[in-house]
Amino acid sequence: MTQATIGRCNLLGLDGVPADELAALLDEADGFVAAVRSRETTDLLAGRVIANLFFEPSTRTRCSFTVAANRLGASTVDLTGLGSSLSKGETVLATALNLDAMGVDAMVVRSPRSGTPHLIADAVACPVINAGDGRHEHPTQGLLDILTLRRRWGDLTGRTIVIVGDIANSRVVRSNLHGLTTLGADVVLVGPPVLVPVSFTKITAGPGRVSIEHDLDEALLRADAVMTLRIQIERHGDDGGGAIPPDYRRRYGLTVDRAASLPKDVPIMHPGPVNRGVEIDSEVADDPNSSVIMEQVTNGVAVRMAVLRRALSP
Ligand code: NCD
Repeated sequence: MTQATIGRCNLLGLDGVPADELAALLDEADGFVAAVRSRETTDLLAGRVIANLFFEPSTRTRCSFTVAANRLGASTVDLTGLGSSLSKGETVLATALNLDAMGVDAMVVRSPRSGTPHLIADAVACPVINAGDGRHEHPTQGLLDILTLRRRWGDLTGRTIVIVGDIANSRVVRSNLHGLTTLGADVVLVGPPVLVPVSFTKITAGPGRVSIEHDLDEALLRADAVMTLRIQIERHGDDGGGAIPPDYRRRYGLTVDRAASLPKDVPIMHPGPVNRGVEIDSEVADDPNSSVIMEQVTNGVAVRMAVLRRALSP
């Protein structure tokens, strides 16, 4: 079993995770949704300690892992770059080894660098969960997006998900591509050519297919769901322009007019944080009939409960 799968209790990515393992995790997460909604706490992981190692800012993912751990009866220790010895020059790996030596039961790792959770997983004894590494993967976000769609449709086979935005710099899109195509959904990637590398059509596990479309209105004609993504300027580096392309909202924004052209049952998604008025209009993001953005957040806790439960009592 490769390290990128969910073997050895780690969850480092969705790349290579077979359909039956995805389904088992999603089934368990599905079973937790009602408990999240009714604010119930269980004792499934009572007495366990989970370390959140977040070397990059986060609101939803970090709090969601903490809420998930607490709802399972586990406690958390939180470490961020600022306020730790990272600011005194200690390496990320040394930091993780110290927490491992303290005997934490699992680590949740977010890093601006691709591969950091894998590096840590190779060095520590406890399970490691990737909470987003650079542009690489964000497996729990992929799972929560897929759970949100699966709860709506039951089966993803033959469905088309349009993902629009900064594809090149998105770890969310990579995890979604692995998971969605494994479960039989087709994905249409949309954005300006500079943000949608042709190589992304190869990120498919089959049976689902991946295609690229630069005309959003054209892509929306085929959409069973639409996922909008933030332009991740902080990941553009020196050569990436570092700015939102002019005309972006008109060409690639999910505006009120565009959203009105969609059938009413097409869910509108966003992993957050949302740049209102850029990739999606406020009215669309907040539309109680079509936006499932808050449902994604709720389902995120359920997914993380399933992932933590699995990591700590396989
Ligand atoms: C995403 C991330 O950090 O990769 N957000 C999230 O985890 N909910 C997407 C983003 O930052 O735009």
